[in-house]
Amino acid sequence: MKKVKKAIFPVAGLGTRFLPATKAIPKELLPVVDQPVINYAIEEAREAGIEKFIFIVSRGKSAIQDYFDHAPELEQVLELRDKRDALQVLRCTEIYAGDAIFVRQPRPLGLGHAIWCARNLIQDEPFAVLLPDDIVQGERACMAQLIEAYDSLGGSVIAVQQVPKERTSRYGILDPGERKNPLIEVKGLIEKPAPGRAPSDLAVIGRYILDPTVFDYLDLEIEGARGEIQITDAINNSIGKAAVHGFLFEGTRYDCGDKLGFLKANIVFGLKHSELGPGLKAFLKTIDLEG
Ligand code: G1P
Repeated sequence: MKKVKKAIFPVAGLGTRFLPATKAIPKELLPVVDQPVINYAIEEAREAGIEKFIFIVSRGKSAIQDYFDHAPELEQVLELRDKRDALQVLRCTEIYAGDAIFVRQPRPLGLGHAIWCARNLIQDEPFAVLLPDDIVQGERACMAQLIEAYDSLGGSVIAVQQVPKERTSRYGILDPGERKNPLIEVKGLIEKPAPGRAPSDLAVIGRYILDPTVFDYLDLEIEGARGEIQITDAINNSIGKAAVHGFLFEGTRYDCGDKLGFLKANIVFGLKHSELGPGLKAFLKTIDLEG
């Protein structure tokens, strides 16, 4: 079985929910405490052994390219000022030459289309997808858990979690078959069904290992929910050609694509931060929550 070595990071979205903050800054570079949102997904992928980082970008996203690049002017200033800690932090953001690949998605045609834009780089290998809006924290990286499951099962393995029934219309939802926790056989997948149409309360979150057969469907450029080309439909169509499993991962997901989720992540990560945590905790206690 082929190993998962490449990951796709779809970062072409306009970030309209965060306007005006995202007018001139990609939403993926907004900070959760002291790191940009996208850094969390990169660290997770690194921990899972990913070697090639494929970013699906669009116009106006060149700051993401700069973020992962060498920054000689900044390094020079920090060296002159002997700021070793800051230098170390800065160097950790770099992706090794040749390991970061940027692909343009010329039109916003949906997540499935964004992933399809990387088809020539993936060819017939299994690959990971990490949606940077979702930050997942736990004892072990969520992607490492998925890769471990993939290494014994093959096919596609998708991270899932239970969501309240009234929220199914925000997610891809599983039609579950046999269940052997943490694995769930997938009989079908529906993108953003209304609560009455949802086959379960098991929602896909933004971490996938995908079998390259998903490209067969994406090649057809069929519009799905919201008039967009959906990866959920492509995975659904691949059932039968490749095994598809849901995986109930261990960890907590923060939806940073949503303002409230983003604020929650900042508070939780702030509280966990070794330097900032105690001060933030003390401050939160002084806030009059009714006021
Ligand atoms: C995307 C997927 C959806 C998945 C969700 C997880 O939706 O299309 O299936 O459940 O990510 O975050 P989006 O959040 O881009 O609307």
